[in-house]
Amino acid sequence: IMNLKKGERKSMTKIIVSPSILSGDFGNMANSVKMADEWGADWIHCDVMDGVYVPNFTFGMPMVEAINKATEKPLDVHLMMTNPEKYVERFVKAGADYVTFHPEASSDAENTLELIKKAGAKAGLAFNPDVKIENYEYLFEKCDIIVVMTVFAGYGGQKLIDYCLDRITYVKNKLAEKNIDVIIQADGGVTEENVATVVEAGATAVVAGSAVFKSSNPKETIKKLKGEK
Ligand code: DX5
Ligand code: ZN
Repeated sequence: IMNLKKGERKSMTKIIVSPSILSGDFGNMANSVKMADEWGADWIHCDVMDGVYVPNFTFGMPMVEAINKATEKPLDVHLMMTNPEKYVERFVKAGADYVTFHPEASSDAENTLELIKKAGAKAGLAFNPDVKIENYEYLFEKCDIIVVMTVFAGYGGQKLIDYCLDRITYVKNKLAEKNIDVIIQADGGVTEENVATVVEAGATAVVAGSAVFKSSNPKETIKKLKGEK
């Protein structure tokens, strides 16, 4: 057993950091995206909320299209919506490179994954803290990415829920058992202070909204999240 100092990581794997523009400036989104890009973002995380699946509204395809024009970085579009199958193709057309959705909100999660891939993007499932992952692990082979929510979807700036770390490890072990290579993304409440434990749990990608956009030095924050510092 290695003795890790606070904030130190066992593995040296680079973590994919995806700043959430939910914490950006909605009055000047193109500028927020360009800044995240310059700060070293690997992807740009776009939180789509429909006011039905979650008690909050954000934006839809036109905003994703605008964000896509502001950056060359891959767009990681997280659909917090009911019946995502109705819209996934249009989100891909708008510029999404990764589309993730909550399987219990879809009438047919397997078909939705297929629709996303046929449209030309990478696809994945997102799991809220109260959703039984076991019910959907038969779909892991069809996923490029799995999002383990570390807060309840709906708002930025929440505190990471500790028991969700075990869920990350659960997914990691399942993927190892099935011998498939899928990105595990932790979403919600990830900070410079807790990212080491999130990575230790098994995440290979992290979303960070407030941690990046409210940082006094976003460039350093992204470096730390990536594990470069
Ligand atoms: C939560 C969203 C997250 C969130 C991340 O509903 O899916 O992507 O915006 O923001 P922070 O990092 O502030 O929790
Ligand atoms: Zn998200």
